[in-house]
Amino acid sequence: MAELKLSETRDLTRIERIGAHSHIRGLGLDAGLEAREVSEGMVGQTKARKAAGVILQMIKEGKIAGRSVLLAGQPGTGKTAIAMGMAKSLGLETPFAMIAGSELFSLEMSKTEALMQAFRKAIGVRIKEETEIIEGEVVEVQIDRPAVSGAASKTGKLTLKTTEMETVYDLGAKMIEALGKEKVQSGDVIAIDKASGKITKLGRSFSRSRDYDAMGPQTKFVQCPDGELQKRKEVVHCVTLHEIDVINSRTQGFLALFTGDTGEIRAEVREQIDTKVAEWREEGKAEIVPGVLFIDEVHMLDIECFSFLNRALENEMAPILVVATNRGITNIRGTSDRSPHGIPIDLLDRLLIITTQPYKEDEIKRILDIRCQEEDVEVSDDAKLLLTRIGVETSLRYAIHLITAAALACQKRKGKIVETVDVSKVYHLFLDVRRSTQFLMSHQKLYVHSQESMGDNDQGNADAMVS
Ligand SMILES: Nc1ncnc2c1ncn2[C@@H]1O[C@H](COP(=O)(O)OP(=O)(O)OP(=O)(O)O)[C@@H](O)[C@H]1O
Ligand SMILES: [Mg+2]
Repeated sequence: MAELKLSETRDLTRIERIGAHSHIRGLGLDAGLEAREVSEGMVGQTKARKAAGVILQMIKEGKIAGRSVLLAGQPGTGKTAIAMGMAKSLGLETPFAMIAGSELFSLEMSKTEALMQAFRKAIGVRIKEETEIIEGEVVEVQIDRPAVSGAASKTGKLTLKTTEMETVYDLGAKMIEALGKEKVQSGDVIAIDKASGKITKLGRSFSRSRDYDAMGPQTKFVQCPDGELQKRKEVVHCVTLHEIDVINSRTQGFLALFTGDTGEIRAEVREQIDTKVAEWREEGKAEIVPGVLFIDEVHMLDIECFSFLNRALENEMAPILVVATNRGITNIRGTSDRSPHGIPIDLLDRLLIITTQPYKEDEIKRILDIRCQEEDVEVSDDAKLLLTRIGVETSLRYAIHLITAAALACQKRKGKIVETVDVSKVYHLFLDVRRSTQFLMSHQKLYVHSQESMGDNDQGNADAMVS
């Protein structure tokens, strides 16, 4: 592995997950990091949001490395939402990786490998590269058709100019194809990367602004470049260590980045990459950008994962770790010990803890309001009041789920906007936890594996921070 391959990652777009938190567009803080009551899709929970904002500020200033934050609170109090808000407020260049504790227990790789990959997804590398480019206005593209069809490939000439010079370049088949693909014609200002041969259309020259026929409505006009045709240009690539790992691991290849089917990556590959990156850093070619690794449902990790975390956080390139849990004092997986949040004391000691509080009625109303907008469901005021009531009595999540269901009920009766009848209909159709539990209690004997006392065989739920 003499040269690390980077170019392939250039065009990768990151795919964002949407769904339950798609209405969250940030943390909704003002310049002084105070949380606005309702902003960027966020409602209330001001103390936790402010705390998250302070962490974010520290990340941006590059002040903390290897620190970690625990979001702790009852189910449905916005822990995951706050982490999403943090992700949205990070710049595009700061990586944010997210994994749920349970995802680590897949069959394809060991848990520590999965954790390692998650860590490396959260570590960015900014690589500066000097490339030689040719930049100029196209004077003429001339392509010679081969005399006999099917004979040797096409050849041609490309004339480029700047305000000071003009040069004719010979074209090979590959360049001709590239020019055709970009629909380059005279009057375009283009840049050609000398190493890769990649052609970029920068716009149309101002001098051609009167050629209406060659213009679309979005045509961008640029000046004809000045100076030499050949220039050196600095380009910056932002990739994550994980992306470099995958591209350079011989067994995988970069397609694995799309399928996510990366398998285990050998330790030697990582070592080589780390050495290379360290070299680049020394030469001033690369910078490390520690991002954020968010592990949701952290109580699902077991003791091995926790000790991996302890150690990984001490690495100098470590990202900021944000973990979330809704568990109280419970069993640490893989041991017979109990501890707060199911997290061993030595790790707990390294965490800054942010707590989330249950929502008040008007906050629930506002969140439901935002969700109605997000799901594009029109709801009458009365129905909203009923939904809010349901949210208070049962849970915010349950109420949120009823929005879509009620919208369907409304459609069914060919109504225009969701009314209380729709909400109450789906309320009776779908049980919330409490009603379902009551039902189970009274019909226990009819079920398989029933036990006299509920919850005994379900550690998790019994220990959740539910009142
Ligand atoms: N402050 C808030 N502003 C706007 N939406 C919120 C807020 N808090 C929670 N929500 C929304 O309410 C729903 C439940 O919240 P979320 O999933 O964040 O809870 P959680 O604390 O992660 O719960 P759990 O412990 O069960 O994982 C989500 O759809 C979330 O986007
Ligand atoms: Mg959550």
